[in-house]
Amino acid sequence: MYIKQYENILLDIAEEYGTPVYVYFAEILLNNFNKIKTIAKKYYRKILIAYAYKANSNIHLCKLLHREGAGAEVVSSGELFLALKASASKIVFDGVSKSVSEIEYAVRNRVWLINIENLGELKYIDYFSEKNNIVQKVGIRFNPGIEVSTHKHIATGGKLNKFGLDSKNFIRAVSISKKMKNIDLCAVHFHLGSQIFDTESYIKALERVLSLAEEAGLNIRIIDIGGGFGYSYETGETMNLDNLFAQISRVLKDSLGEEPTVVLEPGRAIVASAGILLTKVNYIKEVYGKKWVLVDAGMNDFIRPALYGAKHKITVLGKNGPTEKYSIGGPVCESADVFAEDMELPRVAPGDVLAVHDVGAYSYSMSSNYNTRPRPPEVLVDRKEIKLIRRRENFEDLLRLMIT
Ligand code: LLP
Repeated sequence: MYIKQYENILLDIAEEYGTPVYVYFAEILLNNFNKIKTIAKKYYRKILIAYAYKANSNIHLCKLLHREGAGAEVVSSGELFLALKASASKIVFDGVSKSVSEIEYAVRNRVWLINIENLGELKYIDYFSEKNNIVQKVGIRFNPGIEVSTHKHIATGGKLNKFGLDSKNFIRAVSISKKMKNIDLCAVHFHLGSQIFDTESYIKALERVLSLAEEAGLNIRIIDIGGGFGYSYETGETMNLDNLFAQISRVLKDSLGEEPTVVLEPGRAIVASAGILLTKVNYIKEVYGKKWVLVDAGMNDFIRPALYGAKHKITVLGKNGPTEKYSIGGPVCESADVFAEDMELPRVAPGDVLAVHDVGAYSYSMSSNYNTRPRPPEVLVDRKEIKLIRRRENFEDLLRLMIT
């Protein structure tokens, strides 16, 4: 995101709430969502954009999105609990290893759709649906066996991945559910992974699942193409959704008699660019000639660089001028606790505030207390209003769950 215009607000926030601190911009969040919605509406009449809660489940952000018409995609009873609290109108429940109690909770709370990934889920869904006197809409997550080009930790549609059902089990799932009175098998689902930029992978998966459904005699009313829409941390561009949605709509028109409801499950494309992490410089030092900037945020607060080698832009608030090469490390006792290597920055001094860009997605939601560090607060900027939407953890919080 372009932050020059926000520098003063960000400096005020760092001053008032301390660092490290996550800051989100409502305007960017809603712009991202509405852009996807506008493009999708060009091609599909019936559409659900189910925001992937795992990207960022702060209830304030979720509520803003639901108000604009987003549904929720959840993968745990914790996320489902939040989606219910946030009054999401339509909830899609995914997950590769749902526990029986999670399925019971989902059915009891009338989620709109459950996408199964194991044959064993069907009997639980049928059982709890009967108990609750409902017929539950169910989809099958298909693993198309496609290698997408992305980081191996976030590829999910390949033959070696644990996700979804292969063709043989897909056909079995159809025939098992046909015998179950309380299951309305009406959907197919796939999710190929995250950070995908090529349209062809989606089209390949779609064509495979459509022909498989036909072979299995499954009448599709809902087609869920997952999320994964790539966002470039370098350029700030999202993959070409116009092209993707147009091609998907063309395949659907060619293959299905009746127009299905299309479900999208974007997380990153909606929220990544809406967030900034502010962190203060504690020290600067040289170790064998390498210049280190040591900051007060660590990999427990923001793990993407350590886990995926992710490269996020970093700027020094309020500073321009001649640059130097710095590596930026946190306080955690691990060599992977490094946010950037040899990055050109204006001359940095202790006390400066650095802004790590595009950390709206998979950042706070993946934070931990490692090294027994309290987690940072989250602040929302909504037009002129600056609101604390999650307070900083304190020492008491660290003890809260321990039986002392
Ligand atoms: N639907 C399903 C079933 C998913 O598993 C995911 C993400 C999404 C939707 C949303 O994908 P998105 O549109 O955000 O790419 N922690 C990693 C990303 C893990 C994604 C997991 N699944 C990262 O920081 O890059």
